[in-house]
Amino acid sequence: MTGLSSNTTLDDIQGLILRGYNFQYIRYIILKIQNPSGAQKFCAALLPESESPLSITTARPWPGGIKPEYCLNLGISYPGLLQLIGKENCSSVAKTSPKLFNIYPPGATDPNNTELIGDTDESAPANWWSRSGGWLLTEPPTATGNELHLQLTLYVNIPEDRDKYYDLLLGMIPVIAGQPAVVPAFFKDSDPIIVDEDPDYIHFGYKDSLSQPRVAEVPWNKTANRLKNGISTIDDRPVVPAYHFAISLDKDVPYKAHPLLLNGSFAAFRLLYQDVEAFNTFINASSNPELTAAKMCGRWFDGTPLEVSPNGEDKSLKDFDYTNFNYITPTANQKRPAIEDNLGQRCPYTAHIRRSNPRDDNYVKGNEPVNGEPQNAVQHRVMRRASPYGPVYQPGETPGIQRGLVGLFIGADLFNQFQFIMSQWISAGSFRNPDTPNNSGIDPLFGPQPSDPDPNHQNLEYYVGQTGNNPPYEDQTGLTRFIRTDGSLYVFLPGINALRYISEGKIPPM
Ligand code: HEM
Repeated sequence: MTGLSSNTTLDDIQGLILRGYNFQYIRYIILKIQNPSGAQKFCAALLPESESPLSITTARPWPGGIKPEYCLNLGISYPGLLQLIGKENCSSVAKTSPKLFNIYPPGATDPNNTELIGDTDESAPANWWSRSGGWLLTEPPTATGNELHLQLTLYVNIPEDRDKYYDLLLGMIPVIAGQPAVVPAFFKDSDPIIVDEDPDYIHFGYKDSLSQPRVAEVPWNKTANRLKNGISTIDDRPVVPAYHFAISLDKDVPYKAHPLLLNGSFAAFRLLYQDVEAFNTFINASSNPELTAAKMCGRWFDGTPLEVSPNGEDKSLKDFDYTNFNYITPTANQKRPAIEDNLGQRCPYTAHIRRSNPRDDNYVKGNEPVNGEPQNAVQHRVMRRASPYGPVYQPGETPGIQRGLVGLFIGADLFNQFQFIMSQWISAGSFRNPDTPNNSGIDPLFGPQPSDPDPNHQNLEYYVGQTGNNPPYEDQTGLTRFIRTDGSLYVFLPGINALRYISEGKIPPM
């Protein structure tokens, strides 16, 4: 198994794969390669040993825990990798890593992938990138995305540093025969949405950045240290083996990988528009908008899980109390131990967090026990590194303002992690076996596509309990598409040593 305990390994893994940086100002950048050998030199300049003004941030803990001024990470699309290492090398990697390379080469615009994850209708690739603003090339984006090669994410502490470090980054691009080797094709800035001094809110009004996979062996967040410092509660959730995020060459992992992939990962870079007006209209049509919003997400606006506190927000929760819970058997240290919720009476099956991580719920298709062992959804987790873009919605504002969520959904096996969650849990109805009395529907935060023929998908149904002659379920119709895909790029997040090879147009030997 991958040993993450050594700094040598952490030095080879891009930091964002294993840790949240907790920076408030971010710029997501996509570059187009114009000259492959110049692009290789640009990759060399990004290596930590390069002594350039900026380099890739690794997973090594920051000395003294002190935040650096910036962090930078790099993803490479398949068309980008082709330009950098050539077709023959790409084929060698693909042949020896069939599982991990299954959906990366065809990419996010491939009709098989778009159909599976709901990138259809208005969310189809033909509409991507320019609709949100931020497109920088003079020619319009193509529906194949073949001109999008390098995806960089720049994190800074203060807004002024965003332009400063971006300019330094652009200054590192080699100029070949008077032309820059790579040119910016797209960028999107992310500023925090701050509520009650908390910078982790997103459009629609929910607090985000709570639940991430508990990865085995990472050096920070050790419970003993945190408890000693009085800042932590206990996290009982099962650990997810690190090989689901940092690719391992070990024999006992569920995939085979070429050495180029060692300590790397894959990610779906997503640009997701949020229709806040439509969302607000839907929840405000209910007699209890906050409850409706909580049933849609699985959490109250402040992040309190319904499973832990079904009747309202709970201000006494701290730290892991927000994530330390199960749906069937309460965890050992779960706050206010819940009843077994195998009918979705507290947290509906349709709720976004229940369907994107069903935890111990082995009734859910894809999370059934294997050889009698509960799966606890560990094999289908994603590391979310996404944040809001665009201004906070103001009632009565000029129509057409662009806002949403942008960032990376990371996992070693894109098909089995990001794409599985999207296709099997978020976009699919009836994913519990047998289905609940209130039909699991589809994810109400996303809402049905305009072309969805099933009228049940416009309906949000949740349990309220029998009172007098009233029915035990509340039904609210009028769900529409609240989240639209405005861009998507599947990228490889190389390990640092792999980036050394890539910067020379080579791959390591088998
Ligand atoms: C604009 C789009 C989205 C919005 C508004 C949204 C909103 C949220 C919110 C409010 C939470 C609860 C906070 C937390 O647990 O950290 C959450 C959790 C989560 N979301 Fe999303 N999300 C979006 C897109 C996605 C996508 C595309 C995925 C695909 C994989 C996803 C997967 C998850 C997962 C895995 C969790 C954690 C669930 C858990 O562990 O309990 N989300 N999301």
